[in-house]
Amino acid sequence: MQQVLRSWRHSPEKVLKASPIIPVLVVDEVKDAIPLARALLEGGISVLEITLRSSAALEAIMTIRNEVPEAMVGAGTVLNPEDLYGVEKAGALFAISPGITPGLLEASFKASIPLIPGVSTVSELMLGLEAGLQVFKFFPAEAAGGVRMLSALKGPFPKVKFCPTGGINGENFLEYLALDNVISVGGSWVAPREFIRRGRWGEISAMVKEALMVAGRG
Ligand code: 3PG
Repeated sequence: MQQVLRSWRHSPEKVLKASPIIPVLVVDEVKDAIPLARALLEGGISVLEITLRSSAALEAIMTIRNEVPEAMVGAGTVLNPEDLYGVEKAGALFAISPGITPGLLEASFKASIPLIPGVSTVSELMLGLEAGLQVFKFFPAEAAGGVRMLSALKGPFPKVKFCPTGGINGENFLEYLALDNVISVGGSWVAPREFIRRGRWGEISAMVKEALMVAGRG
């Protein structure tokens, strides 16, 4: 695999350090993009991941990028090079994928935005290290060994940092944040799809505030 120097505006560390909790979002209607971003900002979170799980996702990313510049908007569920180039064009400031493939890594060398690929095994992690990465999503966190798996990875990979996602919620997120190889956690629990669909912005802000307070960052 060819490796080239990356010239990203934001590093993966910078993205993940922007908040202890990265909301993983499904936006079904573009009209919800701005109030959602504002609700998250109101709650205290300025970094958000819009997943490519709806047909509105790319336009939602574009809208937030243009209309809510104080939000650091990125894309999730980026599955292949086409997705990566598409979200870059839409204005996403970072890309997150649930897994890692040689094709996606190769594409990330050419992209202007950082890719944070998902890993759940040691070999996948080593594939990412070979491509020069040190920061990964750990997905699906709870199903793939959770806190115990991440603790076990510290021995052979002391420099690697993670953003675990998948099954993380208000009950267990502090256990993850307590690990020194975890920068932040990702999850949908602070802004569930149904709440977005119903425009429950006040409740989303309140859930975000509550989670940040529990994390000691409120
Ligand atoms: C992701 O893509 O990171 C996950 O689907 C989020 O998982 P959750 O819905 O269990 O928080």
